[in-house]
Amino acid sequence: MRILVVGSGGREHALCWSIAASPLCDALFCAPGNAGIAQEATLVDIAAEDVDGLVAFAKRESIDLVVVGPEAPLVLGLADRLAEAGIKAFGPSQKAAELEGSKAFMKALCDAKDIPTAAYRTFTEVDAAKAYVRAKGAPIVIKADGLATGKGVTVASTVEQAEAAIDQALTDQVFGDAGSVLVIEEFLEGPEISYFALADGKTILPLASAQDYKRALDNDEGPNTGGMGAFSPSPLVDTDLERRILKDIIKPTVEGLAEQDVPFLGVLYAGLVLTADGPKLLEYNVRFGDPECQVLMMRLKSDLVPALLAACDGQLKKIDLRWYDDSAVCVVMATNGYPGPYEKGSIIKGLSAADGSDVVTVFHAATRQGEDHRIEAHGGRVLGVTAHGDDLATARDLAYQAVDQIDWPEGYCRKDIAGSA
Ligand code: AMP
Ligand code: GLY
Repeated sequence: MRILVVGSGGREHALCWSIAASPLCDALFCAPGNAGIAQEATLVDIAAEDVDGLVAFAKRESIDLVVVGPEAPLVLGLADRLAEAGIKAFGPSQKAAELEGSKAFMKALCDAKDIPTAAYRTFTEVDAAKAYVRAKGAPIVIKADGLATGKGVTVASTVEQAEAAIDQALTDQVFGDAGSVLVIEEFLEGPEISYFALADGKTILPLASAQDYKRALDNDEGPNTGGMGAFSPSPLVDTDLERRILKDIIKPTVEGLAEQDVPFLGVLYAGLVLTADGPKLLEYNVRFGDPECQVLMMRLKSDLVPALLAACDGQLKKIDLRWYDDSAVCVVMATNGYPGPYEKGSIIKGLSAADGSDVVTVFHAATRQGEDHRIEAHGGRVLGVTAHGDDLATARDLAYQAVDQIDWPEGYCRKDIAGSA
């Protein structure tokens, strides 16, 4: 079959790497992709948000399955448009993508289905929001309702900080429309983990747990990023906890959406806090995480493509995925300066030495092929050096040994990924 992957990051490289290995895949395209993805797929020069362009390409090239990596095209309705054109799309409809696109929508579903989450209220008026914050006290969390490129959340340790965040969103409108509704919620205390599952509208297929690192620097210092590393599985999630996450959180979510006639098809990525009262839902994403996808794909033993197809066809109950019973670690290498301003175009060497074993894969997150086949950095997060081994420590050592092979003075990575686990 002919498959198109949409996106250009490490997540999409990992998806292409898995899909290209499937005997079901005859031709693989990626729009827009990157230099690493070009080893697995034919690159197509169409932006991930160009819904018209992607639909036209999929029709013209008789694509059988489109796998959507990032949330932006889903929120723009790419899956709906492909469905109208009779093309299978792995990823939720525009309405179901509201689970990530609107925190108020997610919270209302939690209310309807008794899903454990932080206590909250929504606000559109500054005075009412501030009065609520003063009544509740700090710490407290202020969230823009819509997508604000990861910047819409303030974990306020004082009431003054919370009030400033309210002013920013409602008075100064720094998030535009995305911040015209605020969700103000209780601060949840406990370690954070992620859990991934596929859904076909009715049935869920559990994948695995993971943990990621959002801050730029060691010991969780420095600014927030898209993710500087990840590992899977999380040692904090045993079989009992996994069962509880599925029963109390994931299952009622898929059920609740189906009851609202918004069947969820795709991957559910639950951000959870393990509180003293059990797991509570922090947020949903309607796509794989990046770099969590890299560690999941490293650990997956089964062919991914039948599972993606079954999700599209409402047949997930027929799928039984096999996993390596081991651990995987991804260390992200970013351009110096990221997540602040940085320069593009520096040259990366040593990639084939780093990638030389079957337990290590260097996924590309933002690279470009320069002159003379040189690989150039072309973004903030550039590589995801990923390894798997019998346990976390082994996987971590393998990943950092591979990092040491990479000759890229303009790049940096955290040294403590999976170190504290
Ligand atoms: P989000 O964009 O919703 O993932 O939030 C970004 C980060 O803020 C999360 O990864 C958490 O570390 C933190 N956070 C969000 N909501 C809460 C909460 N209710 N309690 C504690 N921390 C939170
Ligand atoms: N690693 C966090 C994310 O993909 O949103």
